[in-house]
Amino acid sequence: MLLNRPKQLNALSTELMDELATALKELDADEAIRAIVIGGSERAFAAGADIDELSRATPIDLYYQRRMDRWEEIRALWTPLVAAVSGYCLGGGCELALTCDVVIASETAQFGQPETNLGIIPGAGGTQRWTRVAGKAIAMDVILSGRFLSAREALAAGLVSRVVAKEVWLDEAKRVAQAIAAKGPVGIRLAKEAVDRAYESSLTLGLEYERRALYLAFASEDAREGLKAFLEKRPPDFQGR
Ligand code: CAA
Repeated sequence: MLLNRPKQLNALSTELMDELATALKELDADEAIRAIVIGGSERAFAAGADIDELSRATPIDLYYQRRMDRWEEIRALWTPLVAAVSGYCLGGGCELALTCDVVIASETAQFGQPETNLGIIPGAGGTQRWTRVAGKAIAMDVILSGRFLSAREALAAGLVSRVVAKEVWLDEAKRVAQAIAAKGPVGIRLAKEAVDRAYESSLTLGLEYERRALYLAFASEDAREGLKAFLEKRPPDFQGR
């Protein structure tokens, strides 16, 4: 799925966020869809919230639009999300990438939270996610100074897992999504939940959660099939059951 507001560098207007969340929820409800790629254009993944719209909004507009509900809906999706990032990945755009499960970056990508340039602060998880992912030093630097990280810096900071040549950013993200989609869907969902759980819990509780998720995975037909297929030296045929 590609964000497509090229004239505004894919700025995330309320309408775009509504459309994105609705489309993602539809895909998420389809069991045949096992991974989703979210990309932008070569020039911009997304340059943040729509500043024109923001400049006209009152706090009560923001409250009534329930913009944050869209973010919660995206966060709650089961299907793994792969962000394909080329060019600007700023503000809400960067928060969207960080909401995804895997982030693949073109060597041209630039990551930042420049909201403080506008007299505001990140509002879709930027202060929390950067700190958890990259640590306080980088989070404070990026958010307080408004500087952009290059793709290589983002890789070193742990924001992205792969940096690829600018010609193949989207193909590589699709390849990653295909690799995820080829796995047992039950195991993939449980693994995603277990990794996300690490944000929310102590190590002891997280390990306990992982163990129970493994038992559940083990009870699936996918697990029987995966183990059997390995022993029979053939590709598995996972049914998501
Ligand atoms: N919202 C609306 N329009 C935007 C936009 C945004 N976030 N970012 C860029 N645009 C528009 C520009 O206004 C411009 O439109 P016109 O051609 O009509 O003038 C067009 O996209 C191209 O942008 P530039 O001419 O500025 O292109 P550039 O290459 O010189 O600079 C840029 C690119 C560095 C990304 C610069 O556009 C920029 O700094 N954009 C704003 C980034 C930003 O501050 N993002 C945070 C938004 S707030 C937020 O996200 C809030 C939140 O989390 C709650």
